[in-house]
Amino acid sequence: MKRKLLLMIGIAALLSGCAEEYTDGPPVTTTQPAAVTEASSQAETTATEQTTAELTTTTAEEVTRAQPTKAAALPAPEAPKVKAPGAVSFMVSTSEKQTEISWDSVKGADGYTVWIKRSEGGKWERQYDTDELSCVLDEPRSKANSFCVKAYRLDDNGGKVFSEKAHVSSFPYLYQKDGVTYVDGMLLVNKTYPLPADYGDGLTEQTLAAFYEMQQAAANDGISLWITSGFRSYSEQQWLYQSYVYRDGSSESADRYSARAGHSEHQSGLAFDLNFAGMAFNGTPEAVWIAENCYRFGFIIRYPEGKEDKTGYNYESWHCRYVGKERAKTLTESGLTVEEFYGLTSEYS
Ligand code: DAL
Ligand code: ZN
Repeated sequence: MKRKLLLMIGIAALLSGCAEEYTDGPPVTTTQPAAVTEASSQAETTATEQTTAELTTTTAEEVTRAQPTKAAALPAPEAPKVKAPGAVSFMVSTSEKQTEISWDSVKGADGYTVWIKRSEGGKWERQYDTDELSCVLDEPRSKANSFCVKAYRLDDNGGKVFSEKAHVSSFPYLYQKDGVTYVDGMLLVNKTYPLPADYGDGLTEQTLAAFYEMQQAAANDGISLWITSGFRSYSEQQWLYQSYVYRDGSSESADRYSARAGHSEHQSGLAFDLNFAGMAFNGTPEAVWIAENCYRFGFIIRYPEGKEDKTGYNYESWHCRYVGKERAKTLTESGLTVEEFYGLTSEYS
């Protein structure tokens, strides 16, 4: 009787050990290992797919290694009775202290699991299971971090059936939604990354509020600031750019200081020109004040002096871009342009 009881406890312990392995395991379809192998062998050769394959390989190895030898005697796991949900599109936004990950809901998903890998060749660590569409990790901004979010559906036994395609995001966390590109959660528009033609309908509330705050602070220092050109629609930018091409006689010349339609930050509603948009403004007390203080209100000088080869444009001491206070401070203190900081290009294709 005693031996029988011990045997039952032993089997229960073995089974609960396996269940735990499955529950807390890495991002694989635990009840359907064949599907994982198939998905990884079908991986294409894009950067994302390579990382996906790497993720799948690592996790498959871990599962194999972690199986207790006696588990081989157990019956093979049943095929899942539920279909895996679709892939997750997610966006990563980092700060000095935290990392926020948000994603679009996936039809039929019961929840989402988030993993982090802190170094190249490191292990994927599970961070979060949630039925919400975002999570905040106490993880400071780091170029070494990669993230993965998968949707899952619960099978009849409460096991998780994950989306088969792992979506992995590594620095610089580029993300596209509705034709708009975001880098580290910030809207990005330059010569490489355009906006859709119908995007934008004015300066955003945040941009305007930040401008009024800056205008007041400047006035307190005896500096007068006003917006001379704020939001410009796609067609307004098209007209403006063409007028410069006609005036200069070439697009090569206009391209150095004016954006082609769809490529202007003015269309984003997050940028404006102050006072006098022209070379004569450089070095004026107003320009100096803006350069020294605009970060305090969430702005950066988007096209700094001597960085034409990075930003794609000549120096514009009057063009401010709203990026939020923390990011403005980080970027300004780095002395780098957006393109340099995030390792991006600004070139027409
Ligand atoms: N002058 C800036 C580059 C624009 O046209 O948006
Ligand atoms: Zn401008």
